Amino acid sequence: MDGSKTPSVAPVLILLGPPGAGKGTQARMLEDSFGLVQLSTGDLLRAAVAAGTPAGKEAKAVMEAGELVSDEIVIDILRDRLAEPDTANGVILDGFPRTTVQAQALDALLAETGQKIDAAISLEVEDAEMVTRISGRYTCGSCGEGYHDTFKQPATAGTCDSCGSTQFKRRADDNAETVASRLKAYHANTAPLIAFYDQQGALARVNAMGDIDKIASDLGALVKTAVA
Ligand code: AP5
Repeated sequence: MDGSKTPSVAPVLILLGPPGAGKGTQARMLEDSFGLVQLSTGDLLRAAVAAGTPAGKEAKAVMEAGELVSDEIVIDILRDRLAEPDTANGVILDGFPRTTVQAQALDALLAETGQKIDAAISLEVEDAEMVTRISGRYTCGSCGEGYHDTFKQPATAGTCDSCGSTQFKRRADDNAETVASRLKAYHANTAPLIAFYDQQGALARVNAMGDIDKIASDLGALVKTAVA
């Protein structure tokens, strides 16, 4: 990452990483620490599926197979979300871009408002760890706070730490077969973005194995420098 570059109008951070790397977990912690807004294309697509929109109907089967939704659909969804006023103070992109076409579209979108990427942060995790993380994942059905059967349990069993809800859910695509497809898609389409952002001088790497709070602290220090 080139720490000497001019900061953009509002911070734009990208969290890159395979399924289960902790992008969602860390993005939510960064939201709290830096007042940025997490934009997860996975969450936006799941909302479109639940709402039964035309894009959601097209995306449903693709997501259930663990493959990538078309660039056209995802870029449209992201463009609409970036236009909402709550993104004005800066965003953390979680799960976008995932292809070179999406990365180029993002650069073009940001250029329209005189913005650019402050940092693309690669969360680095071993493949075997991802399967363990994903198979134990569940989220609050009300606020979306993420948990894990072993690694991150609510302080009071059965009650969300963030909002007090007692309703939790698991994702339809968090099964062994789909995880294998998602990992394959990551290595084929998304991992090349690490070199893409390295060439732009925007890449930073964080070791995302180990304790969640330690990773958050390493990431926080890096983000502080990137958005200074
Ligand atoms: P998406 O929702 O983005 O899923 P993903 O990339 O597969 O990532 P995950 O949400 O599974 O993992 P994460 O890195 O956020 O990990 P988390 O923090 O939850 O995408 C789903 C689908 O939508 C895709 O397959 C595709 O079809 C489609 N899609 C989305 N975006 C797209 C795009 N741009 N283009 C095309 N298609 C797109 O952590 C996982 C678990 O581990 C949790 O339980 C957590 O508590 C735990 N955990 C986190 N950190 C640690 C740690 N350090 N130690 C132990 N446990 C940990």
